[in-house]
Amino acid sequence: MTVRFFNAYVLTFDDNNTAFNGEVWVENDKIVYAGLPKKTNLSFDREIDLNGNILMPGFKNCHTHSPMTLFRSYADDLPLDKWLFEKIFPLEDKLCGEDVYWGTLLAVLEYLSGGTTAVADMYFLDDWVIKAMADGGMRCVFVKGMSDLGKNTQKVLDECESMFNKHNGKNPLIKYALGVHAEYTVSRDLLDGAAALSKKYCAPVSIHLSESKKEVADCKEKYGRTPPFEIASHGVFDNGGMAYHCVHIDEKDAELLKSKNVSVVINPASNLKLANGIAPLQMMIDKGINVAIGTDGAASNNALDMFREMYLASVLQKAATGKPEALPAETILKMAVKNGAYAMGFDDCDCIAEGKHADLIAVDIKKPNMQPIANLQKSLVFSAGKSNVFLTMIGGKILYENGKFFMGIDENTVYAKCNEIVRRIVNE
Ligand code: NI
Repeated sequence: MTVRFFNAYVLTFDDNNTAFNGEVWVENDKIVYAGLPKKTNLSFDREIDLNGNILMPGFKNCHTHSPMTLFRSYADDLPLDKWLFEKIFPLEDKLCGEDVYWGTLLAVLEYLSGGTTAVADMYFLDDWVIKAMADGGMRCVFVKGMSDLGKNTQKVLDECESMFNKHNGKNPLIKYALGVHAEYTVSRDLLDGAAALSKKYCAPVSIHLSESKKEVADCKEKYGRTPPFEIASHGVFDNGGMAYHCVHIDEKDAELLKSKNVSVVINPASNLKLANGIAPLQMMIDKGINVAIGTDGAASNNALDMFREMYLASVLQKAATGKPEALPAETILKMAVKNGAYAMGFDDCDCIAEGKHADLIAVDIKKPNMQPIANLQKSLVFSAGKSNVFLTMIGGKILYENGKFFMGIDENTVYAKCNEIVRRIVNE
């Protein structure tokens, strides 16, 4: 498949943040030309006139739990422990593989229609999540959320290793990564085992880290150090990884994460909704950490919407630091695209340039919320929304265009299946 986008305002996200009015050509899964209009002998399967609208790399959602779309708007306005132990965990116990499959596909529809082209997912029933991501055409790194609560430690580690070997190297869009659920849900033996797997495969390990004040206080009381130092002391971060949330980290924690080449993934909407607080984003950036953005799952957010996360990440830092100049739009966009690609290890999807993967989105600027045109990068962060996205391409395939999905599974089937599942598990 060859596609020519023309009359585009191209935001490349390259090192110089180049933007130009021109064309982008795609052959199979790669970008083969990005530049000013020029003549060619190439014949294209499709030529798409972007009519002056934005063409840019897609957003990278670096932390999500896709099947949790099934719990959207089911357990809101509750304290964290009630939300988790009384509402979410009992429902999760009832989920089968097929449920997880349809819940993930619902998330994929939302990612595609909102301009997200890659996600880092963490859930269970791994095979089913991965099958849905593959069937939906998403670029995905599935991060195992190992947890043993002190039991079956070796079994958990063995399963993770066998899944790691089963799923890597099969589908160019899918990777399987090592991960630990959180400091407070695993034994120290499991941390040592995760570090051994990381060493064996030279693979990063990702984890929920310092999400709540209680998590940090409990860890300090039990082990005499903060969660980042406790996790790192077991060697878990020796090959880097992603640390999710990091709401309650101090400068020493941040310096440690930087020294271990760990990317931090912030989740502003989830942290606000569960009343966990505001991550010290500016401080982490000042320490040189690669900071990316995630939505978390739809049970705690409830929208898998990178525009909303970008907006919140910026304005919350302005309020928290008392500096309106903090976290400008350009920095936030870089976090949502380029930093996210690096955090997930999808380095070939970080910008628009020849040879890069064609993970592209088109954003409509001929809408009231984007007019008049002054600074489109500012508009993308402060006034744009999911509804401005009118085309999403992953690996050279157009999966969403002008309100229609082309992922091979009818969206109405997905909605019907998900409603059926929710009715069943709530009433069971
Ligand atoms: Ni999470």
